Amino acid sequence: PFRPLYRGCGAALPDRILTNAELSTRVETSDEWIRSRTGIQERRLAGPEETTADLAERAAQKALSDAGMSADDIDLLVLATATPDLTFPSTATIVQGRLGMTKGAAFDVHAVCTGFVYALATASNFLSCGQHRRALVIGAETFSRLLDWTDRTTCVLFGDGAGAMVLEAVPTETAGDRGVLSTYLCSDGRLTDLLYVDGGPSRTGTVGHLRMQGNKVFKAAVIRIADAMAKAAERADIPLTEIDWFVPHQANERIIGGVVDRLNLDRNRVVSTIARHGNTSAASIPLAFETARRDGRLKDGDLVAIEGMGGGLTWGAGLMRL
Ligand code: ACO
Repeated sequence: PFRPLYRGCGAALPDRILTNAELSTRVETSDEWIRSRTGIQERRLAGPEETTADLAERAAQKALSDAGMSADDIDLLVLATATPDLTFPSTATIVQGRLGMTKGAAFDVHAVCTGFVYALATASNFLSCGQHRRALVIGAETFSRLLDWTDRTTCVLFGDGAGAMVLEAVPTETAGDRGVLSTYLCSDGRLTDLLYVDGGPSRTGTVGHLRMQGNKVFKAAVIRIADAMAKAAERADIPLTEIDWFVPHQANERIIGGVVDRLNLDRNRVVSTIARHGNTSAASIPLAFETARRDGRLKDGDLVAIEGMGGGLTWGAGLMRL
């Protein structure tokens, strides 16, 4: 039995900033509406030649350097995305090739906005059972490519970016209280209609556009996320009151606020990057995590809770001590 320990993180954002003011020249919306309903002020857009793999590779290089490791040290790469470079091969193997990683396995995980939680859970379980030793876990997206830029109800919400974490398996008896302590995953395929992309290789032969019943997603979110957080805490046998930092999926300030209220969490202990990043789907948790790690909020020894919810519907949570 092994425990996956956190070793480092990295992030990558496109240079191009799209503000609410600029968006309001494209569709009938306003900075005031977007800010008050979502908390978003601006988001990043990938350049015309910039892909999910480009952003993922940059984030992965930074995470490796933060962990003091090279690609040679890694034998598992799990990449969460709903916006792969190509239908196949996986974006994970594209990134693996570019990093020069020759050992082990690389594959994509697809759980949309819950992607990073799913990828972290997958990698953690492979490390815990001793099948792999050191993992790169990446969330990377170019959601701008999926948006219908004439639909104001969706195009104002999303942005592009990538984040990565390095995990290393150590024997449980030497891990102390550190490492990934629990994860909890859920999905309900009866709710696909609430949030989906209306294209794909098999059904339409096109990429398609994101479609969402925002109100219903909103209503579904808080109760499910709060439940997953409670279950993850129960699995780790740690009360949620002991959390030092809450790093949620950054979909919407009001969803995050709802979860915080429901679980009685401390508002000052929430990491929010929604204002600057928008909703970057699978990239949002590692992007927020990296921001708070870099500015000194997340310290070694801190107990961090993560959660996500997205298309599927999928949702989940996890607890780790840095
Ligand atoms: N600018 C101005 N007005 C708008 C905009 C816009 N960008 N978008 C919608 N409106 C209008 C609507 O047309 C509607 O007008 P009407 O009353 O004349 O019909 C009015 O604003 C209210 O629309 P609602 O959809 O009821 O607004 P709501 O308060 O629910 O906010 C929002 C919409 C922000 C999408 C909200 O439902 C939400 O955040 N849902 C969660 C969705 C989400 O985060 N999805 C991300 C993927 S899943 C995940 O990551 C958790």
